Amino acid sequence: MARLDGTIALLTGGARGMGEGEVRRLVAEGAKVMIGDVLDAEGEALAEELGEAVAFVHLDVSDSASWAAAVKATHEAFGPVTLLVNNAGILTQAPIDTTDEADIRRIYDVNLIGPFLGIQAVVPDMKAAGKGAIINVASAAGMVPMPMIAAYASSKWGLRGLTKCAAMELGPYGIRVNAVHPGAVRTPMTAGAPEEMFEVYAVPRIGEPEDIGAAVAYLASEEASFIAGIDLVVDGGMIMGPVPQPA
Ligand SMILES: NC(=O)c1ccc[n+]([C@@H]2O[C@H](COP(=O)([O-])OP(=O)(O)OC[C@H]3O[C@@H](n4cnc5c(N)ncnc54)[C@H](O)[C@@H]3O)[C@@H](O)[C@H]2O)c1
Repeated sequence: MARLDGTIALLTGGARGMGEGEVRRLVAEGAKVMIGDVLDAEGEALAEELGEAVAFVHLDVSDSASWAAAVKATHEAFGPVTLLVNNAGILTQAPIDTTDEADIRRIYDVNLIGPFLGIQAVVPDMKAAGKGAIINVASAAGMVPMPMIAAYASSKWGLRGLTKCAAMELGPYGIRVNAVHPGAVRTPMTAGAPEEMFEVYAVPRIGEPEDIGAAVAYLASEEASFIAGIDLVVDGGMIMGPVPQPA
C-alpha cells in the first residue's frame, strides 16, 4: 500500500514550480490531487499529463468564493478534502520605504489571507472526517529576517504564526497543521539567481522542487501522525549561515 492511498488533496499554486514538484510526489505516493491555481493552461496540462489521479480547478486563493468553488470541484472529482497544501505565493523585492502599498496588500492577500481562507474552506470536511492534514508552505524568510523583501518575509512570518494557532485549535479534531520552510529552490520564482550563491551552505546546491515534495509527502502521511505545529526547514542549511572557511 502506498503511503498516501486514500488521501484527497487540494494543493494551491500547483501549476508550476515547487507546487508542481509537490503534486508529482503526492500522486506518486497514492494521493488524488486537485490543483488550484490561477495559471489555467499550465495547470490543465499538468493534470492531463498525470492522468486520473489529478484534476485542475481555477482558484484565486485571495477570494473566498473561489475557495468554495474549488472545494466543491474537489468533492465532485474525488470526495471530501483530507489534505490541504497552501503552496501558492508571490514575491516582490523592494526597500521598505518604497514598497508599493498595492504590492504589500496583494502579497498579504495571497501569502497569508489565502491560506487562512483555505483552512476555513476545508475544515468542515476534515472535522466531519475526524482527521486531516494542512501544510503551509512558508519560507526560510519566515524563520530569519531578510532585507529587501519585507512584505514577503512578514507575510511568511505571519503564515508561520497562523500555522501554530491552527495546529493548536484544530489538533483536537484530528487535524494536524504544519509548516514547511523552503530555502532557495529552482523554480520560476528564483529564475536568474546565480546558483554559485548557494554553494556556501552546508548542502552546497540550490534546492529542487522534489526536495520540498518529499517534505510535504512526509508531513501528509501517517508517519507524521505525532507532529503538529512544527517548522520543517528544508533549506540545505541556509538559515545557519555560510560554512566558515578555514583561514
Ligand atoms: N522558490 C523558492 O526559492 C522559494 C523559497 C521559499 C519559499 N517559497 C515559497 O514556495 C511557494 C511556491 O513558490 P515557487 O517558487 O514555486 O513560485 P512560482 O512563482 O514558480 O509558483 C507559484 C505558483 O502560485 C500560483 N499563484 C500565484 N498567485 C496565486 C493565487 N492568487 N491563487 C492561486 N495560485 C496562485 C502561481 O500561478 C504559481 O503557479 C510560494 O509560497 C513561495 O513563497 C519559494
